[in-house]
Amino acid sequence: MTNGASLEGTAISVDGLRAAMTRLDLKRGDVVFAEGSPGDSLFVVQTGAVKVFRPRTVQRSTSPTILAILGPGDHFGEMSLLNGELRTATVTAVRATTLLELTRDAFDHELEANSALAATLMRDLARRIRLSSNAVAELVYADVPSRVARAIVVLAEKFSVSTAPGETRVDHQLTQSELAEFVGAARESVNRALGILERAGAIVARPGFVKVTNYERLHAYAGLSA
Ligand code: CMP
Repeated sequence: MTNGASLEGTAISVDGLRAAMTRLDLKRGDVVFAEGSPGDSLFVVQTGAVKVFRPRTVQRSTSPTILAILGPGDHFGEMSLLNGELRTATVTAVRATTLLELTRDAFDHELEANSALAATLMRDLARRIRLSSNAVAELVYADVPSRVARAIVVLAEKFSVSTAPGETRVDHQLTQSELAEFVGAARESVNRALGILERAGAIVARPGFVKVTNYERLHAYAGLSA
């Protein structure tokens, strides 16, 4: 697959659809679309990262408003295409990002011609429901350091660069407020949680990135086996 952009798990590469796709170059903060707008296309992240979020409606609410951070190979915007309803979330770029856009006509044509695409979209929606259920359980049962540790593990899957042996730099490029919106906690609590993980020797946190210095300890905080 070229540049890591693929519709996860299918034989359909973006290359096959390239003629039908339009390239979009974004800088940090650029809005792809807003929650509540009509949805006429699906997007694939080619390079960079976007955040999928619900603008805060309740003042000082600590529920997660960032639903996902998506990186190369991820797709979004399929929900409105599939059910004809309005966009369920706002999507903006969190760094310089290149997207490929597939319009409704090309999407409908491709969906009819290729059952593998339908299977991928179903798998992806199932995965998303599972993650959302986990997130609800986490909010109820897990403390903030555990949620922050888990968020770092999730971000590491997409945005890791190896530095020294045994050390990984997770180049998330999020502000501490964005991290707080991702884990569903106040910024001050996330700041304290990063301090706890740092003193435990699991990470070193700096603006825009985290160095994972001990994966076992990070996984232990996240409640995951390493
Ligand atoms: P759509 O509703 O068309 O526009 C917003 C998009 O954000 C949506 O399609 C999905 O592709 C994506 N999205 C919505 N909720 C989530 C979530 N919980 N996790 C990841 N992506 C999501």
